[in-house]
Amino acid sequence: MRFDISGKKILFGVSGGIAAYKALEIISLLKKSGAEVKVIMTKAACEFVSPLSFQTISQNMVARDMFEEPKAWEVRHISLASWADVAVVAPATANICGKLATGIADDMLSTTLMACKAPKIIAPAMNTAMYENPIVQKNIRILKDLGMEFVEPESGILACGDVGKGRLASVEDIYEKICQVLLFSKKDFIGKKVVVTAGGTIEKIDPVRYITNHSSGKMGVAIARAAYYRGADVTLVCGNCSAEIPKNIDTIKVESARDMYDAVMTASEDADIIIKAAAVADYRPETAAENKIKKGKMESISLASNPDILAELGEKYSGKKKLVGFCMETENLEKNAYQKLKKKGLDLIAANSLNEDGAGFKGDTNIITLIDKSGECQKTDLKDKFEIANIILDKVKEI
Ligand code: PMT
Repeated sequence: MRFDISGKKILFGVSGGIAAYKALEIISLLKKSGAEVKVIMTKAACEFVSPLSFQTISQNMVARDMFEEPKAWEVRHISLASWADVAVVAPATANICGKLATGIADDMLSTTLMACKAPKIIAPAMNTAMYENPIVQKNIRILKDLGMEFVEPESGILACGDVGKGRLASVEDIYEKICQVLLFSKKDFIGKKVVVTAGGTIEKIDPVRYITNHSSGKMGVAIARAAYYRGADVTLVCGNCSAEIPKNIDTIKVESARDMYDAVMTASEDADIIIKAAAVADYRPETAAENKIKKGKMESISLASNPDILAELGEKYSGKKKLVGFCMETENLEKNAYQKLKKKGLDLIAANSLNEDGAGFKGDTNIITLIDKSGECQKTDLKDKFEIANIILDKVKEI
């Protein structure tokens, strides 16, 4: 996912590790998203990648020496510190984590970070044994308690040949965390548990064939992401889905409507808000054949009804939890949506129509009409699904 971070000022610290080259890719993404980036490299970082590469990608001079002759009169570590909207260290070594946690400021990066009041994001990368060392873990805990955001390292084969946790998080994850911190300081869903469903269900006919629909999961995943950014504790129940799901979101993968029913009912027990963007198949083949059905033996399929998950949630929780449904129609959108809201005991319904260009299945955009219990309608323009997700959450808050 790409974000518009035009004009945002990012101070990017690179410390000395083999993953330093990945910082180039992150900075390139940030630049393409409109940000201004200034890089500080430690001495060790310069052993891995040339400052010239960072200078070229960031289109700014790279700071590395505290005592270098300034180009204009300024105290460079102070001016860089106060310039930044956010400060990032990626990769962050055990050394820089230790310095930050214990107040050591003895080079350009550590002094600048010490003077910087902007939010800080740390993406550690080091050998597993180093990462697991209790001193490093203690330092990380100190930094987290001070409010610094972390992008956890991944597990895998490390450059040294060891296998374990310590590999720098993916470029995409670090990019997304930076954008999240820059764009979503509003944490108005803290303390709320939100269950979101996304994607289409798959109803098996035999081992090779199934009934499904066109849902990509993009709308539901956008809602889960927006709620997570806004501080909610999110559980995503996800059917057939091609959308990229942020790693930090607790996700339950399901296949059929009945699987989704079980997962949603369990996850909803302690939820405050349930938002059902999934396209659930109303019917399934009465029996799923054990072996592939031969050509000529499948002129018709007998269907059985699937549970209506949202209607059951309405019966159980109407008035107790906030229930938000979706409605996909090809005609009489508002009338049918309002009827569904009433029938299923919902607080809010987001209606989208297949007849509007850019709305509904598969694409990155949608147009929705939000209808509340009083019948009041609010129609959006064509917008990115992530923006639509935030509009839905704003409305949930209002009701
Ligand atoms: O996934 P995308 O490609 O991004 O597309 C998004 C979307 C078009 C799938 C989404 O915006 C949307 O409209 N989702 C609901 C589609 C749908 O199934 O609508 P419906 O009118 O059939 O169902 C109404 C509501 O009841 C929905 O919230 C649905 O999740 C729920 N339902 C339906 C049937 C069923 N057996 N159980 C349910 O819970």
